Amino acid sequence: MRALFAPLLLAAPVATAALPPASGELRGAAAAAGIEIGVAAEPAQLAPGPEAALLASEFTSLTPENAMKWSALAPAPGVWSFAGADALVDFADGNGQRVRGHTLVWGRANGVPGWLGDELAAASDPAERLRALTAELIDTVVGRYAGRVPTWDVVNEPLAVDSGELDPDSPFTQLLGVGYIAEAFARARAADPTATLFLNETLVEAQPAKFAGLLALVDALLADGVPLDGVGLQGHFLQGRADGAVLRAQLEALAARGLFVEITELDMPVLWFFGEPDVLAAQAEAYADVAAACLAVPACRGITVWGLSDADTWLDTLFPLSAFAPNRPLLFDETLAPKPAYGAVRDVLLAPAPPAGMLSFAALATLALIRRAASAPPPR
Ligand code: G3I
Repeated sequence: MRALFAPLLLAAPVATAALPPASGELRGAAAAAGIEIGVAAEPAQLAPGPEAALLASEFTSLTPENAMKWSALAPAPGVWSFAGADALVDFADGNGQRVRGHTLVWGRANGVPGWLGDELAAASDPAERLRALTAELIDTVVGRYAGRVPTWDVVNEPLAVDSGELDPDSPFTQLLGVGYIAEAFARARAADPTATLFLNETLVEAQPAKFAGLLALVDALLADGVPLDGVGLQGHFLQGRADGAVLRAQLEALAARGLFVEITELDMPVLWFFGEPDVLAAQAEAYADVAAACLAVPACRGITVWGLSDADTWLDTLFPLSAFAPNRPLLFDETLAPKPAYGAVRDVLLAPAPPAGMLSFAALATLALIRRAASAPPPR
């Protein structure tokens, strides 16, 4: 519905000149297109100043980059520290923004607390201890934010980095097997029955075999009646330029299973555009391709970029991308000025490509009625 009607309603010409910071045009364009435009943020960015101003004015959705991870919330077993997460949720509430809860169960990097290894080593039954701690985590965190955080990444990156198999290094895989995924979703559903529950996966865009593994996992979960509502494709284009057609096909394959989809952690190092006459213009085209892919799939609810500006991106510290720093992968540059990619995404949201194929007369008549209503003067 949204992807069909938006182009005819919103085909007004759009200025493409450079924008001053905090114009709010991106947020307005996302609202008009009916999708979320989100950003990963840290509590330190919320203090009054130019970063907080941009976070509030340009985005409809916030994802805590680290503040809602288990490691950030639980400094010790049974001890909780919600200051950073609360600050982000309060900020979003105050600015009319959605929060994507990120992330409950993640067996990699700082997804689990540093104390977990000792805790499991000391347990008489490590698998049962991990199961109990995970249940406590989900109950505590989802319960705390019930009604305020409407979307959760319940399970993050269950697959190995470079294959479609379960991540063999995850403590969840090792101790609980694939069943931990179904258990986590059931627990999250019980803790907040109104929340939309996502599985979030990384680096499938350039790896067809890994995407096939993701589809197989999703099919198995759905066949078992697991309360899975959506799948996030992270969109860290570390392995090459984003291919809009591939991304769209992947989003469509997931949507065909009755799921919501989102692009949840988008960034694009400029590395892949070296050699182009205008590196940032080429990056902007790739960003436009990603936005268009989402808009073409009605089940695609949002696009979140993984950080506010090029001044602060995880890619500049991640080997081997760190060797190419500055990677400049985001929508705002290191001075917080909007980049060409900002204008490109905004323009796609305002005037997406028209629907492919022929419309029935009934659909055309519906469009005509909506267009007439949209152009009527507002009621007094
Ligand atoms: O909290 C400590 C802080 O006390 C210390 O002073 C500081 C010194 O370096 O480190 C801080 O922890 C860092 C944390 O970010 C918060 O800044 C960790 O070392 C660092 O490893 C951690 O990196 C985060 C990474 O996840 C962890 O793997 C990145 O910021 C974050 O962007 C990244 O996000 C993940 C998504 O959650 C899941 N998908 C992949 C994505 C990129 O890895």
